[in-house]
Amino acid sequence: MHRAFPIALFAAFVVLVAGSCGPDEAERAAAAEEARIAAHADSVMLAESMYSLAAFDTISWASPDSAISRGSTVWNYSCLKCHGREGAGDGGAVQRGDTIRPPSFLTDDWRFADDHEGLRRQVFTGTAEGMPHWGFYGLKLRDIDAVAHFIREDLRSR
Ligand code: HEC
Repeated sequence: MHRAFPIALFAAFVVLVAGSCGPDEAERAAAAEEARIAAHADSVMLAESMYSLAAFDTISWASPDSAISRGSTVWNYSCLKCHGREGAGDGGAVQRGDTIRPPSFLTDDWRFADDHEGLRRQVFTGTAEGMPHWGFYGLKLRDIDAVAHFIREDLRSR
């Protein structure tokens, strides 16, 4: 009993010090999230500097249908989980604790409705707010072109 007392006192001291020093769980998570966002913004800037319109010039398709068909496969693998099956922005995945969701692609005044080139550029570079930059993440330029055809000529015309 007499020997246990100093040990218990020491243990209580350690618990007290460990508990009061250093960032707590929530602060550490917030710092990690900030670092992740900053790193993502850096690579969006790099993707923007790498983007080249001319690189898309060599892409040709046997028929409009072959572009749409390839684009549909790309959509299902890489986009659907955030953007939703029909592109309404209702996929399951969300960004930053559900504060950032993808917009719907289906509205009449959608910004890329008549802008194939702008759409490919946006898919290539991503955004600083949670849209991956596909120019880095393993989508070939041909697949970016294909998915842009699919969104504009299939999803939006249903
Ligand atoms: C991890 C989730 C996620 C995936 C996967 C994803 N996106 Fe996004 N996307 C987003 C978010 C979130 C936004 C909104 C970003 C913002 O507000 O800056 C967005 C925005 C966009 C926009 C801009 C829309 C507009 O009206 O401004 C386009 C175009 C787009 N995504 C296309 C795609 C395509 C094509 C794919 C597949 C190759 C894809 N996205 C995959 C999350 C995702």
